[in-house]
Amino acid sequence: MIEAVIFDLDGVITETAEYHFQAWKRLASEEGIPFSRADNEKLRGVSRQESLRLLLAGREISEELADDWMARKNRYYQEMIAELTPDDLLPGVATLLAELRAMDLKVAIASASRNAPDVISRLGIESQLDGCADGSSIERQKPAPDLFLYTARLLKVPPARCLVIEDAAAGIQAAQAAGMVTLGIGPAERVGEADKVMPNLEGVTAADLTRAATWRVIEAAFEPARQNHLETILTHGNGYLGTRGTFEERFENDCQGTFVHGIWADVEIGFTELANAPDWTALEVWINDHRFSMDRGTVEDYARYLDLRSGVLRRRLRWIPAGEGQRFELKFERFASLANSHLMVLRIQVQALDGPATVEIRATLNGHVDNWGYPHWDLISQGSSHQMASLEVATRSTLKTLAMSAKLTTNREDVNIEGWDDPGNPGMCLRTELEEGGSFTVDKFVSVFTSRDVCDPLSASQSKLLESTKLGYEVLFDENKAAWREFWRRSDVILEGDDEAQLAIRHALFQLRIAASSDDERVSIGAKTLSGFGYRGHVFWDNEIFVLPFFTYTQPSLARNMLMYRWHTLQGARRKAAKSGFAGAQYAWESAETGDEVTPRWVTDSRDPSKKIRIWTGDIQIHITADIAYAIWQYWHVTGDDEFMRNIGVPVILETAIFWGNRVEPLNDGYALNQVIGPDEYHHHVDNNAFTNGMVRWHLEKAIELREWLHLNAPADAVALDRSLGITAETLTLWQDMAARLKFNHDPSTGMIEQFDGFFQLPDVEWDRYKDRTTSMQSLLRIGGANQYQVLKQADVIMLLCLLRDQFDHKTWQANWDYYTPRTDHSYGSSLSPAIHAWAACELECPDLAYEHFMHAARADLQDIRGNAGDGIHAASAGGLWQALVFGFAGLQLTSDDHTVTPRLPSHWNRLSFSFCHRGEWKVIDLRRE
Ligand code: G6P
Ligand code: MG
Repeated sequence: MIEAVIFDLDGVITETAEYHFQAWKRLASEEGIPFSRADNEKLRGVSRQESLRLLLAGREISEELADDWMARKNRYYQEMIAELTPDDLLPGVATLLAELRAMDLKVAIASASRNAPDVISRLGIESQLDGCADGSSIERQKPAPDLFLYTARLLKVPPARCLVIEDAAAGIQAAQAAGMVTLGIGPAERVGEADKVMPNLEGVTAADLTRAATWRVIEAAFEPARQNHLETILTHGNGYLGTRGTFEERFENDCQGTFVHGIWADVEIGFTELANAPDWTALEVWINDHRFSMDRGTVEDYARYLDLRSGVLRRRLRWIPAGEGQRFELKFERFASLANSHLMVLRIQVQALDGPATVEIRATLNGHVDNWGYPHWDLISQGSSHQMASLEVATRSTLKTLAMSAKLTTNREDVNIEGWDDPGNPGMCLRTELEEGGSFTVDKFVSVFTSRDVCDPLSASQSKLLESTKLGYEVLFDENKAAWREFWRRSDVILEGDDEAQLAIRHALFQLRIAASSDDERVSIGAKTLSGFGYRGHVFWDNEIFVLPFFTYTQPSLARNMLMYRWHTLQGARRKAAKSGFAGAQYAWESAETGDEVTPRWVTDSRDPSKKIRIWTGDIQIHITADIAYAIWQYWHVTGDDEFMRNIGVPVILETAIFWGNRVEPLNDGYALNQVIGPDEYHHHVDNNAFTNGMVRWHLEKAIELREWLHLNAPADAVALDRSLGITAETLTLWQDMAARLKFNHDPSTGMIEQFDGFFQLPDVEWDRYKDRTTSMQSLLRIGGANQYQVLKQADVIMLLCLLRDQFDHKTWQANWDYYTPRTDHSYGSSLSPAIHAWAACELECPDLAYEHFMHAARADLQDIRGNAGDGIHAASAGGLWQALVFGFAGLQLTSDDHTVTPRLPSHWNRLSFSFCHRGEWKVIDLRRE
């Protein structure tokens, strides 16, 4: 977050920008040069010399005369500032400075004006500043970043943690080039590129300033030990693919990865995984024959951040190659276009600050990639010329072809371009001689297609590339930005009073969006999105229960795609049911391309690699089938998409209900679901898990209702469906009876729900003994051990209460919360759980307690509090954050044609606002603390 605020002076702190204008105007009229207020806009923030050049608009005058004119302008200016007093601080400035000091934020002024110290002393604000830098502190003036970088060093604050307030376009550019957050003062035409724009500082609070930083995830200082974590949270993408935030030039022990939806490849144990695609970001920078790397030479003024508003990953730094005194400014920026799934763009800029230099950029498409050391690709073809490079590869076992093509453009004429045809790593090499101060910009455009998209991915990628490069970097950049703007217009959540939580929810929603395909119905979001190797890209209940509600409510077409994935994999679900000897369709616990079960049956014991551990979830964690029915029903309830319900929803819900009708076992006095795993995976082979039975009961009830609905609304379809699924009057009677009498251990006198048969008989854990633990209760007690105690990995009964919240009374809520919460492994159990506990605590009107659970979820990725964010984004936790905010803190409930809210905000939140679409109508919820 922000640690320092750097103010520009003229036009921000005081109205001296007007004096500069008056002084130039006086000079201009004396010399008969036309000069208006509008002309002056360009002079804002730029040095005296540059101002004169702009004023002359191409006219040549001698150096002597120029010096004379500048001195004269300065005299006029100084005459005016002689009158300045503390009363000339602009409205709001004094209060703001005082507030910033009180908050322990560093405060400085950075102005190009050599008169700045004089002005500051006349305004009487020296004592409120931790530093001041003016035009004489550095050589290159704004829009170069130097003045701000100099100020950050003075304050000993990393650039990415500085916020700059500027009234000039040149100043905004300079601060951005320094990697800082910007607040523009004035009209959008002038400072519209800033992160936030305000007319002036009147009434502006420190909180208004720091909020400007809630759109970026930053790496303020390079910490090699945190690289894998950073790579995950800086993942960028567009729903077609996701790319981890590794460095273009790579780094030791990094974990580079690009995952393209649907590109499954066979693998031992885990059956199938998303094959790590060739690295489109690959780039080497050579300066005077020194190869750039973060661990060579000296790196200064480093800043890296992911801009969530536009999906752009940026890095800037100053590099001094080992053994050389010369400094180079390096800037990288890249994005996968949200406007154009098959397009990625990367820009690198090298500037020689201290003298001429030879700069070479080698940009390639690196096919030497693997998944945890396992290479999936065979090379089919490659090519490179000075025009274009291309690479075509195919997965070894599944024979999916992927083609990538790249083209480079540059800002300079004098560049030598050659093809670079390394085996498996084709590219281009660009070389130029830079003069002192000169900069070399190379834009790398990459297009990717696979055999899932088109018959001939190679030619598709080549033609896409030709078409896109013609448009140029700026146009593609703007298109991408516009697509993101549209996304945020619908899906942003505004949370005032808590910058950390605000940033966390935006990051979570960003990561979910880049994992959701815009148009592919045959893929869904894996437990680790497209951001890491964890869980091999497999899709779990995480998607339907945790992730999907956000899409259902704010991006229904994307939610529909993901539900269609379950439709297209129904055949796999039929096979799974049949394999276990049941009728109907049973969804896989872990699903990939076909819907067949792909949960590994055995994994290596991390404590003793010679041993294997049996994983039972694929066999008996069966609640996912009801979870999918729930998500379909919820989608329909929210969107009113009857067509979907008719053609997809009802058929799936009925065919899966047939599975339950078969799987549920009759007892003498009812029905049972034995030998299962509920959400709480610390307990396996349990009977009558409350969550599972509760959801199955709900599923059977809905199946009956929806079948009736279909008979009313599409009788011919309904008859055909009954016939094809073999649904008869007996089936319905059976479902009804099962729903009514499926065992559900709920004691109405106490409200308690027993998590499964016999749970209450198990001993409790002596929690005191584990106070200082740093790992999960399951790894301490071992799998068999945890099974024997009343210790939960995650919300189970509580999860059920949340999903079916209308079905349970307050007594039940309270009793179960009181009982299960202290028995849950909140810190090292499942990452799925904290957000759900946040929601549940809200239902019990405990928002401050809910907040603690909420932040636990919010920090899973951004702070890596579980230590495993390197494996990929915790998608379920991200989706859970949205639900905690919307269903929990805002208490949103839909009625058939309207909605209600029950706000219960933590005491320090001032505002919670979001939109959602209910049956085609957009609604805005804006809850403010008065
Ligand atoms: C600031 C002002 C400019 C001015 C520049 C140099 O950036 O915004 O209008 O030209 O400083 O000022 P100086 O006082 O050194 O001429
Ligand atoms: Mg200014």
